[in-house]
Amino acid sequence: MKVIEIEGARQLSGAIRISGAKNATVALIPAAILTDEEATICNVPEITDTDALCDILKQLSVNVNRSTESLVINPQNMKNVEIKEEYSKKLRASYYFMGALLGKFKKVVMHFPGGCSIGARPIDLHLKGFEALGAKVTNEKNKYTVEAKELRGANIYLDIASVGATINIMLAAVKAKGTTIIDNAAKEPEIVNVATFLNLMGAKITGAGTSTIKIEGVDRLGKCFHEVIPDRIEAGTYIIIGALCGHNLKIDNVIPEHIDSLLSKLEELGLHLEIGADYVIVLDSPKELKPTNIKTAVYPGFATDLQQPFTVLLTRANGKSKVEETIWENRFMHVPYLNKLGANITVKNQTAIVQGPTELKGCEVVATDLRAGAAMVAAGLLAEGKTTITNAEHILRGYEQIVEKLKSVGAKIVIKEI
Ligand code: EPZ
Repeated sequence: MKVIEIEGARQLSGAIRISGAKNATVALIPAAILTDEEATICNVPEITDTDALCDILKQLSVNVNRSTESLVINPQNMKNVEIKEEYSKKLRASYYFMGALLGKFKKVVMHFPGGCSIGARPIDLHLKGFEALGAKVTNEKNKYTVEAKELRGANIYLDIASVGATINIMLAAVKAKGTTIIDNAAKEPEIVNVATFLNLMGAKITGAGTSTIKIEGVDRLGKCFHEVIPDRIEAGTYIIIGALCGHNLKIDNVIPEHIDSLLSKLEELGLHLEIGADYVIVLDSPKELKPTNIKTAVYPGFATDLQQPFTVLLTRANGKSKVEETIWENRFMHVPYLNKLGANITVKNQTAIVQGPTELKGCEVVATDLRAGAAMVAAGLLAEGKTTITNAEHILRGYEQIVEKLKSVGAKIVIKEI
């Protein structure tokens, strides 16, 4: 097991560069198999989710060449074999192979995906989308077979603006006969990044980033070179860390527009920020912060993936703040550990009430999932004394070189294997 140890309450200054977005990368890698030639993706983060997807590519006999920050994927000799549970359960995003393999071979056999335990995480909308395109879905002991004689464009309305279903349907529809319209599509920047990638290969997708996406099927997809967008959740996490204990902490390689909802909440709390074209500087972290309320929502609303780190910040606000989680049913697992560190937070149904300000003191805590782990790192940096975070593997799934990045701005942090 990996353990992160932090000696907290140190001021952080300098610059942190943001890596490529995890949630774009994890869709781009499966999407790459749709090319009939070769796809190059650069700015790929070195995180364990990337490794897990490359392992699946190798299982499928796809040629993968990895150098620092870039991946060259050549599927010309690939074989459409069953994706075994030991691979699919490593991460949620393995489900993008469903859409991609279905789109390319009209058939996919794989087990239910894994990922963070933050809710039930059904895939019914993905499967309904595939069925609308003409596929037949069978499920036997969590092993899904999705196949079609022919995929035909269709009008698909999503009951929920699901990120995963929107991307998966795009992947399946890109080579279907005719036109597919996805209504109530999710609008996250990662979806735009994936649509751009497919269009560079020769797909005909319009409307990505709006709630109606139109996909005109094409027969073949060619060679392309593409760049992953900066990770807005990683950026938000470090900006929150800056708000907790930063002084002139620059977060570089950011698209500020992607984190508008976070930035306006930080200004409401009373933080002083300098927002540039591709960076954010947390100028200082005032002694007294104002309380505020957040409610997670689909993009461009407040990102659920930043809710857990943001809750740490609210422990410093002077008064009562409210955090409503509307996306995932089980995303307050960080709260008992924040309370163990000294916070005063109560959770009822999907709402947490944070009574601040409270002093945090280091102790042993658990990274129960990826963003809960990020919240523990943020809390450990704020707390007096030593914080030990067990199950730190979760954190490495989504934060490239987190220990090195934080050390470079003055944090006392180490990672160990025990
Ligand atoms: C993506 O998950 C992200 N993961 C999540 O990030 C993120 O929290 C989430 O979008 C919301 O922004 C990846 O991109 C790999 P959804 P996804 O489908 O696509 C329900 C992180 O920390 N739903 O938009 O799985 C679902 O239960 C991770 O980086 C159905 O009911 O999320 C949820 O309540 C965690 N049926 C809501 O929709 C479906 O078929 C939104 O889920 C699909 C989803």
